[in-house]
Amino acid sequence: MSTDWLAGGAGAPGVATAGARAGGSVWPAALIREAVAPLLADLTVEVVPEVASTNSELMQRARVGRAEAVLLVAEHQTAGRGRLGRGWTSRAGDSLTFSLGLPLAPADWSGLSLAVGVSLAESLHPRIQLKWPNDLWLADRKLAGVLIETASFGAAGASRRYVVIGIGINISPRDAGGLSVPPAALQELLPAVSPGEALLRVAAPLVQAVRVFEASGFAPFQARFNARDALRDRAVVLSDGTAGVARGIGEAGALLVHTAGGTQSVTSAEVSVRPAG
Ligand code: BTN
Repeated sequence: MSTDWLAGGAGAPGVATAGARAGGSVWPAALIREAVAPLLADLTVEVVPEVASTNSELMQRARVGRAEAVLLVAEHQTAGRGRLGRGWTSRAGDSLTFSLGLPLAPADWSGLSLAVGVSLAESLHPRIQLKWPNDLWLADRKLAGVLIETASFGAAGASRRYVVIGIGINISPRDAGGLSVPPAALQELLPAVSPGEALLRVAAPLVQAVRVFEASGFAPFQARFNARDALRDRAVVLSDGTAGVARGIGEAGALLVHTAGGTQSVTSAEVSVRPAG
């Protein structure tokens, strides 16, 4: 086994432990650091067997002044969180759950979560689509989700914040559980792909996308999002009951919905949208 791969499952929480595979997944920590180094020299890659939530852990660290660049991977989350206050459940070995935390100072934060979705989809597979704002879909089933949170640090009022980009990707197929349709899994597109291999595919392009976003905002991602937009020209219903037809996204990442009353630009993080019918 390459020593560039890290065995999860054997280390103390918060500490990445190199060594032989010990029951957990095998993680390409050194390869990721190497790929990311030209973009983010001081990134630490940490793999832990279990944590409540990788997002919660990095947000907690930021609140006590630890604003370092970290990619925190958990083989299992006991209290994974999703958007809109929902939970995020996953099983060790069957999914990839991680958060990238780093200081960031874009001129405008609008569209960051969409840019992250674009990066993930492009680095994983051409057939993956994006469902506004930032779900990854495969054939109308959810493959992955993104939860972005920020914490302030340094001078009050500065645009520089510590951002935590949390990502959950279903790797192996699983049953529907309480859902009406089972979620999608990456192995439907990339048979036998492991969580570690998936992480190696997405990590460096993700850091690159975040750097591009910081320098240039959402503009470089707009056409790329529209090229993968799963809702484009479909009848949709918003969580506030508004019905219309999705017409792509605007330059700041808002969903454009053509309704009986005209075109609405949907920006609120609290609004969700689903295909009608
Ligand atoms: C969503 O689709 O609602 C977003 C899901 C985000 C899940 C990931 S898993 C890693 C990170 N830690 C969390 O608690 N949530 C995110």
